[in-house]
Amino acid sequence: PPLHTLLNLYEIEAVAKTQVSKKCYAYYFSAGDDLFSKYYNGSVFRNILLRPRVFVDCTTASTATSLLNGMHSVGTPLYVSPAAMARLAHPDGEAGIARGISRFGAMQLVSNNASQTPEQIVADAAPGAVFGWQLYVQTTRAKSEAMLARINKLRDHYKCIVLTLDAPVPGKRELDEKSNLESQLVVDSASNDKDAAEKRPGGGGVGQQLFWGTAADLTWETALPWIAEHTDLPVVLKGVQTHEDAFLAAQYARKHPGSIRAIILSNHGGRALDTAPPAVHTLLEIRKYCPEVFDIIDVWIDGGIRRGTDVVKALCLGAKAVGVGRAALWGLGAGGWQGVDRTFEILQGEIETCMKLLGAKTISDLGPRFINSRVVERD
Ligand code: FNR
Repeated sequence: PPLHTLLNLYEIEAVAKTQVSKKCYAYYFSAGDDLFSKYYNGSVFRNILLRPRVFVDCTTASTATSLLNGMHSVGTPLYVSPAAMARLAHPDGEAGIARGISRFGAMQLVSNNASQTPEQIVADAAPGAVFGWQLYVQTTRAKSEAMLARINKLRDHYKCIVLTLDAPVPGKRELDEKSNLESQLVVDSASNDKDAAEKRPGGGGVGQQLFWGTAADLTWETALPWIAEHTDLPVVLKGVQTHEDAFLAAQYARKHPGSIRAIILSNHGGRALDTAPPAVHTLLEIRKYCPEVFDIIDVWIDGGIRRGTDVVKALCLGAKAVGVGRAALWGLGAGGWQGVDRTFEILQGEIETCMKLLGAKTISDLGPRFINSRVVERD
């Protein structure tokens, strides 16, 4: 069907399902164990109610904002989360995602396991586009150091290093593993550890194969000084799931100015630890126990975003930016870069409609007063 006839993200996913390979669908769709966290990520938003105000001039609503402690202007707080292997869905790949989001001025975080190189992805980037590079630190540190050196050279485009912490080992993704039992797919990301790829055992799903060579020994004490030795780009910690760790990140940022500039509350789209909390729960924990975190670093969230109202609710509760993982991949699967463009067009339209119906003209107008706190914040 023509893309303009698809009216929401569910319809785009349904079309993508008919167009990508079974194995691609299984890999993208899959999550840990029983998929509880994956589904709860989405349903939790629907249990949060909004409080619209009336008699507000909302002829226009602007989604423009800035990220990384105000360092970079973007057209929208909606961004693309790092997700491996975009070319499984469509030859346009990660560069196609960049093209698809370009007219919205959205940020794109690129996966360590991208199917194109960091150079290829930014080759045709729109002027002013903001990218981040996600790193899975490799056991052989020299390999990650070489990657950081490449990203340092591309700093006109890549404005941060995203360190993913919620998946030191791969989650148990049975759908992915099952589809790989039927026919083994040989996966190779453009940037990952090629020697390790040759040595890794067969079996497991695509996810497990990609993880081969990834370090599981990172700590607060060792990882952050190591990264600071190899880049002065700001660091974003992805996969924070408790107020304790959010507080530690903010404390570190305060002690080491210019180090951590943001944290991403995320359970990896439910793909790591099943029954881990949705990002909104962690956001509420931070509001309750250590709200000063919001003043020190950006708090971004991802997981389960399917509607503009989901995005607006997260922003009202203190998130500075909101990411989509699968939605961007399904857009790509449904129609290459144009499918990503359509996905963002729909979400952006929904965000603006939601803001106007709430009585909010700008992103900075959004706040907890638009949320029915008796539902979401009852002690
Ligand atoms: C991911 N995610 C992910 N995260 C990361 O830091 N590095 C990675 O390489 C990947 N790879 C990846 C592949 C696929 C197929 C998916 C679906 C996800 C997690 C991703 O960044 C994000 O946290 C979730 O996708 C957010 O949930 P939704 O939007 O998919 O519900």
